[in-house]
Amino acid sequence: MGNINKVKITYLKLKKKDGQDFIKFIKNNLNSKQIINQKFKILHEKDYILFPIFENQVLLDKITKILRNQNDFEIISKEGITNVKYKYKSLEEALEGIIPHKYSELIPKSYDIIGNIAVIEFDKYNHINDKEFNEYKKKIAKAIIEVNNNIKTVYEKKSQIKGEYRLRALAFLCGEDKSETIYKENGCVFKLDIKKTYFSPRLVFERRRITLSNIEENEVIIDMFAGVGTFSIQIAKNYNVKIHAFDLNPNAIKFLKKNIKINKLKGSITPYQMDIKHVLNPLNKVGTSLNHRADRIIMNLPEKSIDFIDISCYLMKKSGGVLHFYQISDKPNPLENTIKHLETHLSKFNWIIDKILNSKIVKSYSPTSELVVVDLKIKTLDY
Ligand SMILES: C[S@@+](CC[C@H](N)C(=O)[O-])C[C@H]1O[C@@H](n2cnc3c(N)ncnc32)[C@H](O)[C@@H]1O
Repeated sequence: MGNINKVKITYLKLKKKDGQDFIKFIKNNLNSKQIINQKFKILHEKDYILFPIFENQVLLDKITKILRNQNDFEIISKEGITNVKYKYKSLEEALEGIIPHKYSELIPKSYDIIGNIAVIEFDKYNHINDKEFNEYKKKIAKAIIEVNNNIKTVYEKKSQIKGEYRLRALAFLCGEDKSETIYKENGCVFKLDIKKTYFSPRLVFERRRITLSNIEENEVIIDMFAGVGTFSIQIAKNYNVKIHAFDLNPNAIKFLKKNIKINKLKGSITPYQMDIKHVLNPLNKVGTSLNHRADRIIMNLPEKSIDFIDISCYLMKKSGGVLHFYQISDKPNPLENTIKHLETHLSKFNWIIDKILNSKIVKSYSPTSELVVVDLKIKTLDY
């Protein structure tokens, strides 16, 4: 926080010569943490020392009683100077006296942390004008940096995830305006740029779950929408498998290549910066070499994955393989809806569901839909 805090706080003003005695006395007789407000600096003014104290009538009465024999003390109100070394216990505490109580709902209950970057989302707040709202947002962002030692940057979400590359508009709020970071998860390290590449810290358990599913040595795995390699890297870190990882976004592939280098992998990952649809082109060498070669395919493009089922049928081994299929599915019965979708689309290419291995709601997506995952074995009737 800046040095001078515009908010007035209560000080106990004593002669300097009495200061030591006061400290000793409260240390021996009272809980000093409940008296001295450590968020603010102790001030020195000529012959006087000013202790920032909590404004609490019972406390003030107690102090007055203790000091009544001292002839020179005063309780005064004055602008505080924040103690930059103070470690706040919560965002709410760091913002006490900075965000008016009537706007306390502005303080986010949670926010995403990606490496040393925090990303916050503000609910629409109707009773506040834009200028004031923007000021409070910056103050909240500043407090996030104060509360978390490792956070250096705060951005605000400005849009939903959108476009082919599945990116989100972000506005800089506080710290260093640097969107590249290093994120660690499940023993892996990911370099990424939150403005230029898709990344969701909220899928951490999903990535772990897929990594721990029954993957066998030497499997050929296709990660159709790999991003910076969040699934591929974690799998290849743990198994000696051959992964082919595709993404349209050149930045995603640039970071995927870096991530392949910085993680010690048991398996191999081959990155391809291309539209996965091109594998269907008979002249596409990558496509022809991977035709019916996959033991497992990951399809994490939830808004559109169903449009790529033909590609799964082209790449999956004819004897069958495992598909990890993510989809945004309408309520009610989102899981049943996704399974029906899969059945209908697979059948168009003469493929069927052999077995549903698992199906679950990953997270809520909107009031009318959920993000779901279905892990299933599929096989072709032409085999
Ligand atoms: C939802 S993100 C998932 C990224 C990654 N699997 C993860 O969980 O972090 C989808 C990714 O698919 C990529 N993408 C979209 N359409 C594609 C296509 N037709 N071919 C290849 N990649 C595509 C986007 O650029 C984006 O990085």
